[in-house]
Amino acid sequence: MAELRSRRSNLAVPGSNPRFLEKAKGLGADQVFLDLEDACAPLAKPGARKNIVAALNEGGWGEKIRTVRVNDWTTEWTFQDVIEVVGGAGANLDCIMLPKVADAGQVQALDMLLTQIEKANGLEVGRIGIEAQIETAQGLINVNQIAFASPRIETIIFGPADFMASINMKSLVVGALHPDYAGDPFHYILMQILMAARARGVQAIDGPFLQVRDVGAFREVAKRSAVLGFDGKWVLHPGQVDAANEIYSPSQEDYDHAELILDAYDWATSEAGGKKGSAMLGDEMIDEASRKMALVIAGKGRAAGMQRTSTFTPPES
Ligand code: GLV
Ligand code: MG
Repeated sequence: MAELRSRRSNLAVPGSNPRFLEKAKGLGADQVFLDLEDACAPLAKPGARKNIVAALNEGGWGEKIRTVRVNDWTTEWTFQDVIEVVGGAGANLDCIMLPKVADAGQVQALDMLLTQIEKANGLEVGRIGIEAQIETAQGLINVNQIAFASPRIETIIFGPADFMASINMKSLVVGALHPDYAGDPFHYILMQILMAARARGVQAIDGPFLQVRDVGAFREVAKRSAVLGFDGKWVLHPGQVDAANEIYSPSQEDYDHAELILDAYDWATSEAGGKKGSAMLGDEMIDEASRKMALVIAGKGRAAGMQRTSTFTPPES
């Protein structure tokens, strides 16, 4: 996990709005996705393809991961979205996001189309990744095959709004606590997505929270997937960016502690440290499993550019 790029905040930007495309470049999101799907009216889609190509080729995105969300394969738009965007700006684009993925075949179809466009345009074959959105019951029952459908898969993303519609959920407030249900109504779905993503070794991303003015509620909902191990969440508004970056990073204390465990365990297992398989770090017993847990936290912290604020000193012998 250590070398994964940070995707704590993934900013949604409608491709039909050049002003929003420009503004997104200056925001502190780890990733942007330029949308041709549900944030673009059907009549605006052809113009949005052109705006997106222009915005990508113009540059100015810094270190952000640049993704374009195309329309799903049941529409008449997908192939043209991909041909126009990747043909026009393939060198300046990192991933294609495929919404409403129903099965592995839909991922493979996109993979083949990408390969042809890359060849036709002299681009490196296989560089452009695929982000798969799970937002229907059908997608969820096939999520394991979807995760393994192509080497291009980089993330599995939960799409709560479409998902709630797909399963007839009795709420309109996406992600909010329902007054009739004390738990997290999405726990099962989030866990299935997380298992598929981790088994495949890719990132798990939580979807949007639509009450964009209520950052407090955004934080509560984000914490539910962050605590499970999700890598990030969509942000729909500049006000949600900082909250996502914070919630999907380890705390400074946890990050420092993880680095300390790695150093302490390294030392304990060394010749000088007595070749011990388990050791005490303060009041805590650490062993190989502690090292694995610490690697996850340290990996997330390093990917987010965190700096440690303490160092390890081997105990006097
Ligand atoms: C995102 O696409 C969602 O449907 O929640
Ligand atoms: Mg959706």
